[in-house]
Amino acid sequence: PRPILLTRHGESLYNVRGRIGGDTAISETGELYAKKLANFVEKRLKNEKAASIWTSTLQRTILTASPIAGFPKIQWRALDEINAGVCDGMTYEEIKKNMPEEYESRKKDKLRYRYPRGESYLDVIQRLEPVIIELERQRAPVVVVSHQAVLRALYAYFADRPLSEIPHIEMPLHTIIEIQMGVTGVQEKRYKLM
Ligand code: F6P
Repeated sequence: PRPILLTRHGESLYNVRGRIGGDTAISETGELYAKKLANFVEKRLKNEKAASIWTSTLQRTILTASPIAGFPKIQWRALDEINAGVCDGMTYEEIKKNMPEEYESRKKDKLRYRYPRGESYLDVIQRLEPVIIELERQRAPVVVVSHQAVLRALYAYFADRPLSEIPHIEMPLHTIIEIQMGVTGVQEKRYKLM
């Protein structure tokens, strides 16, 4: 069995301000997580020469992975956060106030709702297919540093959760979800680093 480690990026400047999307750097708290993550990964994967670190193309995941030494890093556009289109950079409060119809439609059907000029969860699930195929083919451990919506979809695939649950799965910051794929099925461990 070989582990897949899933984690969100460390807290970003937009996380601090309650804003969605964007491409901001990480906060001091986020940087602390990046150090703890590096420590954890370097210990956990000490003898795993072929392991690799996958990030999105957004700064916050690249910065979170940057202190990890000794493994190749690969950027995937398919691991970028859900594209919130015209709502990118807004807070949920602002969306509710300025675009109440959009806010309500998303609340009614979060899985299928597509942001104007952006994506839906179903779109994200579809674009993750090549990532999942590659993850399945890997024989060595992989650390995936990505984003809330994307990780909900990836996690649901491995944990065999129904489609309808995906947008509502809890995906906290600063926590590593380790998935072990063995002959007897999938096992899961969580490490809350801070
Ligand atoms: O707030 C962080 C974030 O990653 C946003 O960039 C993204 O739009 C959101 O979470 C996705 O979560 P939800 O689908 O619950 O809005």
